[in-house]
Amino acid sequence: MRLSRYFLPVLKEDPKEAQIVSHRLMLRAGMIRQQAAGIYSWLPLGYKVLRRIEQIVHEEQQRAGHIPLLMPTLQPADLWRESGRYDDYGEEMLRIRDRHKRDLLYGPTNEEMITDIFRSGNISSYKDLPLTLYHIQWKFRDEIRPRFGVMRGREFLMKDGYNFDLTKEDALHAYNRHLVTYLRTYERMGLQAIPMRADGGPIGGDYTHEFLVLADTGESEVFYDSEITDLTFGDRQIDYDSKDQCQAVLEEFTSRYARTDETHDDALFQQVPEARRRVARGIEVGQIFYFGTKYSEPMGATVVTPDGSRVPVHMGSHGIGVSRLLGAIIEASHDDKGIIWPEGVTPFHAGIVNLKQGDSATDSACETIYAELRAAGLDPLYDDRDERAGAKFAGMDLIGLPWRVTVGPRGLANGKVELTNRRSGESEEMSPKDIVARLSSIYAPVLNTAVIDK
Ligand SMILES: Nc1ncnc2c1ncn2[C@@H]1O[C@H](COP(=O)(O)OP(=O)(O)OP(=O)(O)O)[C@@H](O)[C@H]1O
Ligand SMILES: [Mg+2]
Repeated sequence: MRLSRYFLPVLKEDPKEAQIVSHRLMLRAGMIRQQAAGIYSWLPLGYKVLRRIEQIVHEEQQRAGHIPLLMPTLQPADLWRESGRYDDYGEEMLRIRDRHKRDLLYGPTNEEMITDIFRSGNISSYKDLPLTLYHIQWKFRDEIRPRFGVMRGREFLMKDGYNFDLTKEDALHAYNRHLVTYLRTYERMGLQAIPMRADGGPIGGDYTHEFLVLADTGESEVFYDSEITDLTFGDRQIDYDSKDQCQAVLEEFTSRYARTDETHDDALFQQVPEARRRVARGIEVGQIFYFGTKYSEPMGATVVTPDGSRVPVHMGSHGIGVSRLLGAIIEASHDDKGIIWPEGVTPFHAGIVNLKQGDSATDSACETIYAELRAAGLDPLYDDRDERAGAKFAGMDLIGLPWRVTVGPRGLANGKVELTNRRSGESEEMSPKDIVARLSSIYAPVLNTAVIDK
C-alpha cells in the first residue's frame, strides 16, 4: 500500500474522550471511529489488524479440528424462551420486534442457537461425536458503561465455540483442548494471557478459566504466583486428540495460584511464598467453560449411546474477545510515541520512508524495495508523500509497524538503506537486497502458518 493512496486519518491531538492508552492510540492512529456509545466503525488500519487477529484465531481453532460456521447476529426470541434465558438476561439484551410483531434479539452469545443447530442436524449417534463448532461474529450487549474504546464495547466481535460430547470426560477433554488452542492463539499475537480460575456463576463448578493479559488498565483484579509468568507454550507439537497431552498442558498452566477477585481465596494465596505473590490488574481476553447438559437437556439435544438409550450431550462454550484483543495488545505493547505491533498481528509488515520524495534515485530505490517486499509475500506500507522526514517518522512510530526501512540519498550513495526496529529503536545499514532477505526471514514464521482443515 502507498500511503498517498491510503485512508489513514491520523489525529494530531490526543482525543479528550479516551481515558486509556489503547483507546487514545487507536483513535490517533486512525483505526476506529466511534459511531455511538460502544459502537465503532473499523477504519482500514484497524480493520486490517482485526482481520489478522481473526485469521490467527481461525488457524488455531482449525488446527485442533474445530469447525467454522457462521450464525446470524439476529436471533429469534423463542429459542431463548426454550432455555429460560430470555427473561433472565435483562437489560443487556437488545430486543427487537420485526414488522410481523415477532420478537428478535441481537445475539449476546449463541448457546441456544448452536444447540438448535445441533439438534436439527440429524446427529443421532454417539459415533458422530466429538464435535466442536465455532464462529467469529458480532455480538451486542447493552453494557451499562461502555468504555475504553473497543475494550468494552456494546457491539463487539467474539469468537465463540461450542463442543458436543457424549460424556463429561470427553467434554472435559474438549475443555482442555480449548485451553491449549487459546495459549497458542494469544502467544502468536505476542501476548501472555494467563489462565485464571474464574467464577462458574449460577451453574457453579470448577470448570471455567478466564485468560487475562496483565495490564494496569485492566478491569479485573488478579492474584497470582509469579512463577506462572515464566511459562510459555512455544512451538510444542500437540496431538489435540490425546487426552493425556491436553490434560498435561492444563495442569502445567493451571497448577499455580492464579485467580481473579471473583474466586480469590486469601487463605490459599498465603500459601504461595511471599516473594512470589502478586496482586495486579488484568484484561479478560477469553474464557472457557464446561456446563454439561444445561442447554442440551431443556432443548432436547440428544444422541443415541452405544447401549441404545438417548442422552443429552455434554457441552461447553469457549469465547475469545477478538475486537477487545486489539486494545489488550496495545495496552501491553506501546511507548510514548505510539503503538508497537507484535509481528504476528501488525497491519503492515514494514514501513518504507522515502526521505527525499521526487529525487529520482531515492524514488526508484523505494519502488524497488516496495516491489520486492511484495514479491516476497510481505505487505509493506510505503510513505511516498511529499512530507518532512520528521513527520513521516512520527507517523510510522504512531501506527507502530515493527520495522521501518529508511531510504535517502546519503545512504544510497554508499548503496545502503536503513532498517530500524520499532521496539528497540536500533538501526542497521544494509543494501536494499539484504533488507528484503532480512525481513523475509523475520516474517517467515508468521507467514508460514496456513492450516489445512483436518
Ligand atoms: N463488552 C465487551 N466488549 C468487548 N469484548 C467483550 C465484551 N464482553 C465480553 N467481551 C469479550 O468476549 C469474551 C467472551 O465473552 P464472555 O461472555 O466470557 O464475557 P464476559 O465474561 O461477560 O466479559 P466481561 O466480564 O469483561 O464483561 C470475553 O472474555 C471478552 O474478551
Ligand atoms: Mg467471561
